[in-house]
Amino acid sequence: MISVKSKSELEKMRRICTVTANALHFGGQSIRDGMTTHELDKIIHDYIVQHGANPCLVGYAGFPASSCISINDQLIHGIPSKKVRIKEGDIVSVDVSAEMDGFHGDTAFTFACGKISKEAEQLLKVTNESLYKGIEQAVPGNRIGDIGHAVEEYCTAYGYSVCKKYIGHGIGRKLHEDPEVPNYGKSGHGPRIVAGMTFCIEPMINAVGEDVRVLPDGWTVVTKSGSLAAHFEHTVAITPDGPVILTKPTL
Ligand code: MF3
Ligand code: CO
Ligand code: CO
Repeated sequence: MISVKSKSELEKMRRICTVTANALHFGGQSIRDGMTTHELDKIIHDYIVQHGANPCLVGYAGFPASSCISINDQLIHGIPSKKVRIKEGDIVSVDVSAEMDGFHGDTAFTFACGKISKEAEQLLKVTNESLYKGIEQAVPGNRIGDIGHAVEEYCTAYGYSVCKKYIGHGIGRKLHEDPEVPNYGKSGHGPRIVAGMTFCIEPMINAVGEDVRVLPDGWTVVTKSGSLAAHFEHTVAITPDGPVILTKPTL
């Protein structure tokens, strides 16, 4: 069942999504050569708690931290660690979810640590742009398949691959709700988009090949090819006038 939020529920969504986005970008601004992913997670954790929200990823399906931090060929679900150091030239995907007042926010961004390669720069730019191509399709009357179709069409034109194994989702009182929001699909197919719905659109894009595998830690998803991967995510509310990005940082 796809939940449709009332005005006051959407207001609560807006508030938690702003905190979540600010936590992500406050953390992102602190990224330095030599810092551990645990240190970055701690900055994000403290920001969430200091702003009255709950770092709801802690304990989610057994996940042990407040954010997922995935470097270079890691696509998603990297576990923050005191042993993993970010280096100049790395691309660092950070995914933050938080809860407040019964509602959730969820947003991700792939940051550059210092100067990165031209290849990496293009992957980040195109993946981020594909998120906006998807968001543009999130208008009342369209179908969920229109979103994924737009994301996939945009990324494959650059020779990149959409990871099909992991997908976006509805969000609200739960972090993951209906509908499923894949980053691929057929336009004109899937559930009808209606004002009051809120979803997470989150392209997960591999530079080479769609295949991924999970590392022995049971969480970290990496590209099978060893290529770079990027992940950008926004929580979006559907209004009669079109999509509104709830996870815009206001820092
Ligand atoms: N934030 C992720 C998403 O976009 C969920 C991560 S679940 C975790 O849906 F358990 F890996 F943290
Ligand atoms: Co997320
Ligand atoms: Co999500």
